[in-house]
Amino acid sequence: MEPYRIKVVEPIPVLTRAERTEAMRAAGYNPFNLNADQITIDLLSDSGTGALSAAQQSAAALGDETYAGARSYYRFRDAVTVLTGFDHVLPVHQGRAAERILFGALLQPGALSVSNTHFDTTRANVHLSCGTAVDLPCAEAKDLDSDDPFKGNIDLDALEGMLSGPDYVGVVIMTITNNGGGGQPVSMANLRAASELCRAHGVPFILDAARFAENAWLVVQREPGWSDKTPAEVARAAFDLADGAVASLKKDAIVHMGGFLALRDKDLAARCEAVLIATEGFRTYGGLAGRDLEMIAVGLREVVEPSYLRARAAQTEYLAELIEKAGVSIVRPPGIHALYLNAGRLLRHLTPADYPGHALACELYVAGGIRCAELGSLYLGVEDESGVLVKPAPYELVRLAIPRRVYTQSHLEYVAEVVGEIAKDPESVPGQRIVSAPDLLRHFHCRTEPVPTAR
Ligand code: F0G
Repeated sequence: MEPYRIKVVEPIPVLTRAERTEAMRAAGYNPFNLNADQITIDLLSDSGTGALSAAQQSAAALGDETYAGARSYYRFRDAVTVLTGFDHVLPVHQGRAAERILFGALLQPGALSVSNTHFDTTRANVHLSCGTAVDLPCAEAKDLDSDDPFKGNIDLDALEGMLSGPDYVGVVIMTITNNGGGGQPVSMANLRAASELCRAHGVPFILDAARFAENAWLVVQREPGWSDKTPAEVARAAFDLADGAVASLKKDAIVHMGGFLALRDKDLAARCEAVLIATEGFRTYGGLAGRDLEMIAVGLREVVEPSYLRARAAQTEYLAELIEKAGVSIVRPPGIHALYLNAGRLLRHLTPADYPGHALACELYVAGGIRCAELGSLYLGVEDESGVLVKPAPYELVRLAIPRRVYTQSHLEYVAEVVGEIAKDPESVPGQRIVSAPDLLRHFHCRTEPVPTAR
């Protein structure tokens, strides 16, 4: 059970099916265009959507808003240093700012950034720094149904080949847990081996540590030799293998805004600090308020509590169990921050060109007011000039991201019921076709419409 009780509540809107059908139509069938007043259960993101603790709120009252040298900065820095062991800690307003600053300082034009899987902002920031992002997920990740414990790993042979090959690798960045790869964890053995390869080739080894605590929990549960360690000890062992880390603290610090860039190398940190001051803020606030820094310091301690992580992981597992019982496949085994529904398998009557993941995301809203986003051909597919899908995504998935400390078991049971209702008559779900789409980041902006199915 959850190791906390609820003290502050927020009502959630419940619309009629007719209202939701109209809202979806007016939103151009893009869940990103819905507004909060139209949503019953919001599973769009686990980022910045968590519930604060009483301890975080009271820490916020101690926020020191001094321009330079605020007490809050030192409490933030000490919390990050105790957790990570890195000497140089720069606050940033969110994870992508840390990525932009780090890659700008680290990558020469043409350099490769190699990862288990880059998150989309990470990939975009590599490209903005004139680098090229290369993903090397392990072979096990290809089988969505297998129960391999660490499908977030990097393919070590491919990494070695890349590091010994002719191309210049400027950085290796490991995303823990692997959000772009089904929210799967990375094992300590894989991190150690990747770190050793990087050391041997003189390439900086960086963690994208947005969900460091959830990765640590899954290591404690799944990796031989780690079961008697605390999540904090596992997290520290992971950071010890790296030269630095970028982190969105909107996930595993359970705050609404924040991030850090932490490094061992003094010169690299100094170069990053100069850009930080020019683009985010002075080195003791980096775009955050003192109260944010205080809440982060507390959240970083709360998130590694075994009782919290156990309850959070159990919540996701429970939802996975209900959804699978309803006959819907997910990317197995369930991770922690999200479940990824296999929409391609559920909506067999649709082809990738009907965008089954997007069709399911739209249907989840119309059927039950559940908002989520697809990770399939709308997000990753490639069309020709006339709009014909020529390269579909490898899988048609829908991500149900679970905000931290926000929804109760009965909310999740409701989600499973809605999924189950859809699964009873999947062929009633229409495909979608694109009406308008910008070239860049189109899944945020595009408008689509249902394609009537002949039944
Ligand atoms: N890295 C990972 C692994 C992420 O999941 C995210 C954000 C970022 C970096 C960027 O951090 O949002 O603070 O700038 N993921 C969110 C999500 C948006 O919904 O998965 P940010």
